[in-house]
Amino acid sequence: MFDTKMLSSDEGSIIEAVRLLKNGEVVGIPTETVYGLGANALDESAVRKIFKAKGRPADNPLIVHICDMEMIKPLVTHIPELAYRCAENFWAGPLTMILPKADIIPDVTSGGLDTVGIRMPSHKTAKEVIKKCGFPIAAPSANLSGSPSPTTAEHVLNDMNGRIPAIINGGFSAVGVESTVISFENDAIRILRPGFISAEDLSEITQNIIIDKGVVEKVSNRSVVRSPGMKYKHYAPKADITIIDSSLEAFKAYIAKHKTQDCVCMAFDESDCDGLGVKTVCYGNTDEQQAHLLFDKLRELDVIGAKKVYARCPNKKGVGLAVYNRLLRAAAFQVVTLE
Ligand code: TXA
Ligand code: MG
Repeated sequence: MFDTKMLSSDEGSIIEAVRLLKNGEVVGIPTETVYGLGANALDESAVRKIFKAKGRPADNPLIVHICDMEMIKPLVTHIPELAYRCAENFWAGPLTMILPKADIIPDVTSGGLDTVGIRMPSHKTAKEVIKKCGFPIAAPSANLSGSPSPTTAEHVLNDMNGRIPAIINGGFSAVGVESTVISFENDAIRILRPGFISAEDLSEITQNIIIDKGVVEKVSNRSVVRSPGMKYKHYAPKADITIIDSSLEAFKAYIAKHKTQDCVCMAFDESDCDGLGVKTVCYGNTDEQQAHLLFDKLRELDVIGAKKVYARCPNKKGVGLAVYNRLLRAAAFQVVTLE
């Protein structure tokens, strides 16, 4: 067992990370959404190391990260008009577009699909690393498969120590949930995974927005899904989470009735649990705060050894839909809906 090196994001550290990436190694890289496990997207053996480090099923494709529009051209066979408009409006930023892949993208990277997800991150360090490498970087979220996505370099180290040579520390990820993943169908945009770029944002491009049913419904392991990542159990802390979809009053009444000595409330705010006498973990009052904090708080539940957790239900609109989508998976789709 070796120790993974924690690099800062100064010039010398970036040069060291780029050297590792050019040598076909895997490096933990900060982005504005969550940390990624990056490797040369065009190098099969480097990409295989990502799957190994994460313990990721081979049929779950990786997102390919670029730093400018020149870089996308050789990677795909066609860019629809709608995709150009999305790029203009939302890149660099937390949006991934599924496009028909060119042969240059190895099958390992695309999980055997004939499409590839492309994203241009806005995080300064991520952009610099990709630019200095001169090749696109494949990067899934830098967690072990099945655990919450990492929003700090420490989260990455907890999961990846001894599995990858280095991590670049770029601070707390600003957005906190992974990118919005979309595909294009005729004149429509289909949201496969909701993120910080919301359905409402995308409706500036077209009114024709489809939210895939996998976003809020459970998909069976055997079914063919448009975004393979949606079928895996995800983001799960060890605790058993139940989402309480209700008003604050009904939430409080439910906790008062069902609380046990060691249960934990995942609330928006400390005051949500006033007078209930239960341990509380708060994940914020706005959609954006909740997106920023959710994964960190899910990891905190493990740190405090939470077993049974009752969570207040986020908004199901705007950025809230991204929070709801992640929390649903953390809760293995257990929701109690109250009047
Ligand atoms: O914000 C993000 O997207 C982060 C950072 C590191 O960029 N990356 C990330 O990657 O979340 P990952 O691998 O954890 O999630 C990628 C998701 C998966 O659900 C995967 O199935 C889906 O995107 N995906 C990737 N390529 C696809 C494709 N060609 N067709 C459909 N879905 C695809
Ligand atoms: Mg992931």
